[in-house]
Amino acid sequence: MTQTLTLLGLESSCDDTAAAVVRQTADERAEILSSVVFGQTALHSAFGGVVPEIAARAHAEKLDTCVRDALSEANLTLDDLDAIAVTAGPGLIGGVMSGVMCAKGIAAAKGLPLVGVNHLAGHALTPRLTDDVAYPYLMLLVSGGHCQYLIARGPESFSRLGGTIDDAPGEAFDKTARLLGLPQPGGPSVQKEAEHGDPVRFRFPRPLLDRPDCNLSFSGLKTALMRMRDQIVTEKGGLTRQDRADLCAGFQAAIVDTLVEKTRRALRLYLDENPTHPRLAVAGGVAANTEIRAGLMALCAQLETDFLAPPLNLCTDNAAMIAYAGLERFRTGARDGMDLVARPRWPLDQTSPALIGSGKKGAKA
Ligand code: KG4
Ligand code: ZN
Repeated sequence: MTQTLTLLGLESSCDDTAAAVVRQTADERAEILSSVVFGQTALHSAFGGVVPEIAARAHAEKLDTCVRDALSEANLTLDDLDAIAVTAGPGLIGGVMSGVMCAKGIAAAKGLPLVGVNHLAGHALTPRLTDDVAYPYLMLLVSGGHCQYLIARGPESFSRLGGTIDDAPGEAFDKTARLLGLPQPGGPSVQKEAEHGDPVRFRFPRPLLDRPDCNLSFSGLKTALMRMRDQIVTEKGGLTRQDRADLCAGFQAAIVDTLVEKTRRALRLYLDENPTHPRLAVAGGVAANTEIRAGLMALCAQLETDFLAPPLNLCTDNAAMIAYAGLERFRTGARDGMDLVARPRWPLDQTSPALIGSGKKGAKA
């Protein structure tokens, strides 16, 4: 690596509009010069999920502001850039198109190269941006929209070992919160309730643990929770604070157990193939959950595997990861033209069979 590269990244595949500038100097770790994120939670909160049309319009309105802020925070202008990286999928198509059109406009106006980035690759390469991790490593993506195990071997070389066949874990947390009248996003509120709950009072299923593969399923947990909730309401006329805490604790324990056990299987497969690179990295909003982190850390300690969890602002959707993934692609000589298309579905591993799951935030892979 010889050339210093400075890339602007754009992200608009779901409900965050983001722009960031990342620079990498010869043989040094990449540096985030700026990272701006405009969340859309307030725009969608009344609808119980992300409304694609509202999201797309908000992205189109906010992208140029984001670019302006990211450049001014980095103390740079468009003339200082070497290329523009943009999320070209997978995601909600209107939002992805907004980002791709914006990137094409800047690229055409300034004569800059354009690099399309797979959003999932952005997440999967984050440990290289934050910790300079060498390939290969095992990645667990867990968020409101994704849940999959990936072996990362290169900027465009990934093998999927398994993933959810229905809901993503964040989606399950959010639905649970809704069913119990707790605020959104559900993950943090369920975790908080669970802190003073009894995790064994209600026995939740551990889905798909009877199967030897690395696939997961979370949609049955909310059905189980709904039944338990309704039974308490029928018997006692309502839920007490303790009932709610116990339901949250039981639900969270089921997620932790399932994720830890499936991660053990994925790690075994990965370590068989890569015994000299024992590394597990996590990304996605659900990786913020303290019980899930503790469970995965304990597992890694048991299997003498390094555990890497990027800071939360880089675990959730952001454009620094897109600029960085674009930078890695750019170094391999990858360039996209004005015919770059926005893709609603774009599996990272084209060879593994499609999973059924899509996630509340739209089809992901
Ligand atoms: O990665 P992210 O910001 O967005 C995408 O889904 O792409 O993840 C958001 C998800 C939400 O479903 C939220 O409830 C969940 O991450 N989350 C958590 C926690 N913090 C956020 N889930 C469990 N425990 C948490 N502490
Ligand atoms: Zn994401």
